Amino acid sequence: MPGVGSRAKGPDGPARGRAICALLPNGGRWLHLVRIGARKGGFLSAERDRGADPADEGPVQLDTSVAHMARVYDYWLGGKDNFAADRAAAEQAIAANPGILRDVRANRAFLARAVRYLAAERGIRQFLDIGTGIPTANNTHEVAQSVAPECRVVYVDNDPVVLTHARALLTSAPEGATAYIDADLRDTRRILERAAQTLDFSRPVAVTLLAILHLIPDEDDPRGIVATLMAATASGSYLALSHPAGDIRPAAVAEMSRRINARLGSTRGTMRNHAQIARFFDGLTLVEPGVVQPQWWRPATPSSDAEVAVWCGVARKA
Ligand SMILES: C[S@@+](CC[C@H](N)C(=O)[O-])C[C@H]1O[C@@H](n2cnc3c(N)ncnc32)[C@H](O)[C@@H]1O
Repeated sequence: MPGVGSRAKGPDGPARGRAICALLPNGGRWLHLVRIGARKGGFLSAERDRGADPADEGPVQLDTSVAHMARVYDYWLGGKDNFAADRAAAEQAIAANPGILRDVRANRAFLARAVRYLAAERGIRQFLDIGTGIPTANNTHEVAQSVAPECRVVYVDNDPVVLTHARALLTSAPEGATAYIDADLRDTRRILERAAQTLDFSRPVAVTLLAILHLIPDEDDPRGIVATLMAATASGSYLALSHPAGDIRPAAVAEMSRRINARLGSTRGTMRNHAQIARFFDGLTLVEPGVVQPQWWRPATPSSDAEVAVWCGVARKA
């Protein structure tokens, strides 16, 4: 991994900050991440965002005995940042629902097309990507800054392995900026406060919630969370959202969900249908073609008809 054992560099030389240690899944090395104070206009910023308790600034805690969704997803995408428990859960899911491998790739391709569309065709220059995932090809800042290098991107995730990869998410073009916040999606106040150190909320922002809302159960009010985030954005902002579909290949998806939930520790996935997922866009204006399967959302070339058990869409705030 680039940068292991070295210090991250800002535009003015070595960045100052605290080191965080984390045991990496691929090879058992200790990685020192440098905590860099978030600063507007900066080249890099990363923050472990769990409050003021200095104890929070110690080594990243990884519980490798239970599966974590970020690492299961990484395995499905062919990544290496996963442990035995993650691989076992992922394989059980594949056995119940082999289509999951096509689903995650289609979801990832939607992410790239949606971000490119927002940057290139809607002029969006600010992105708040919540539920970032372990870095892979076409991370949000790479796609956005390939269109407009001045794009500013704030990533948010609550998985410790994603935190260990924060540096890979912070390789901004010098004209733009990236930041990483270690926070739970339910903590919208903290996310918005911290994101405002990098993003200007008086100007349009694209909020991306891709393959994360199924990890927020109904009792935690996922629609309220989306509404709170969008209420904080300016007119002309966008919401890009994708969500596993409970009404496509329903038997296989339900069995996959049951198996994964049994292995995910405290996190539970909730499968939702088209109508439930479309309601996340209430109060916004959907961009054509609306809430569809990802392979049908503005494909670069005509897409195959193979079903993908995901619903996705992009909508604008008036
Ligand atoms: C399935 S991955 C999706 C990654 C990426 N958005 C994509 O679509 O390719 C879900 C991500 O959401 C993160 N996540 C799950 N629950 C979360 C929560 N409550 N707050 C913040 N992040 C969360 C997981 O750690 C994981 O990285």
